[in-house]
Amino acid sequence: MDVEFFTREEFEEAADFIRSRTQRSPSVGLILGSGLGSLAANVTEPDIIVYSDIPHFPVSTVEGHPGKLVIGRLEGLEVLIMQGRAHYYEGYSMQRIALPVRVMHILGINTLIVTNAAGGLNPAFRPGDLMLITDHINLIGMAGLNPLRGPNDPHLGPRFPDMSQAYDPELRQIALQVATGLGLSLRQGVYICLAGPSFETPADLRFLRMIGADAVGMSTVPEVTAARHAGMRVLGLSGISNVASPEPGEGHETTHEEVLEAGKMVVPKLIALIKGILREIGRQR
Ligand code: HPA
Repeated sequence: MDVEFFTREEFEEAADFIRSRTQRSPSVGLILGSGLGSLAANVTEPDIIVYSDIPHFPVSTVEGHPGKLVIGRLEGLEVLIMQGRAHYYEGYSMQRIALPVRVMHILGINTLIVTNAAGGLNPAFRPGDLMLITDHINLIGMAGLNPLRGPNDPHLGPRFPDMSQAYDPELRQIALQVATGLGLSLRQGVYICLAGPSFETPADLRFLRMIGADAVGMSTVPEVTAARHAGMRVLGLSGISNVASPEPGEGHETTHEEVLEAGKMVVPKLIALIKGILREIGRQR
């Protein structure tokens, strides 16, 4: 369904269900992208809820997206992890894709860490690199696909939310410091969201580079838009899974298997980085 609108009551229903299944009150939410879900194995004493049990939740149909909420402790903080996410190309409305973020907000989560697998448009990027998202280009939103389209409930956020600092400067600083401390090289760049599911043509890729994007993917921006609408602080990390180059011989055919394989390369670095960031967030509270 392309258009559907949810009310606060429906978000509350999903939040109430989650509260009925866990005693914990997480303050940090994490959304783990393609092949990146194994961070959740680090959570101690997890309460696990499958998405299909939660009212109104979208259920991912894509391989590499297990479709579970994992709620527990990680590095001393109570966290709620989405192991897998839904995408627009699966047929869900933007409003449904953003629903879990609204539910997180109702549950009291004020910090969101989003991860994804992305194609590297920046010629310096290599598969296995980690990129800190400094900003995004909402190409899919410019084409009219924005999760905030429709009636606005002012209790959830303003009609016209500011997006000038979508990715929290303090959290970015923390990520850079933690990466330095771990000896991890952390790229920085602009993420661009396309609808997918087809990968890009060389002409698409030339255009995306030209307009200033460093990494391309099919997620994240709808969730970040909903999170900023709700006033949540956001940190975004991309695992570069493949070279997205328009030059003959540089890029090559991109496959989902390749994306999942590269995810395995990124996971240990991503886990170390996110754990370090959580420790630092905990320390600063
Ligand atoms: N293009 C779009 N989305 C992606 C890519 C890509 O090359 N890699 C991972 N997600």
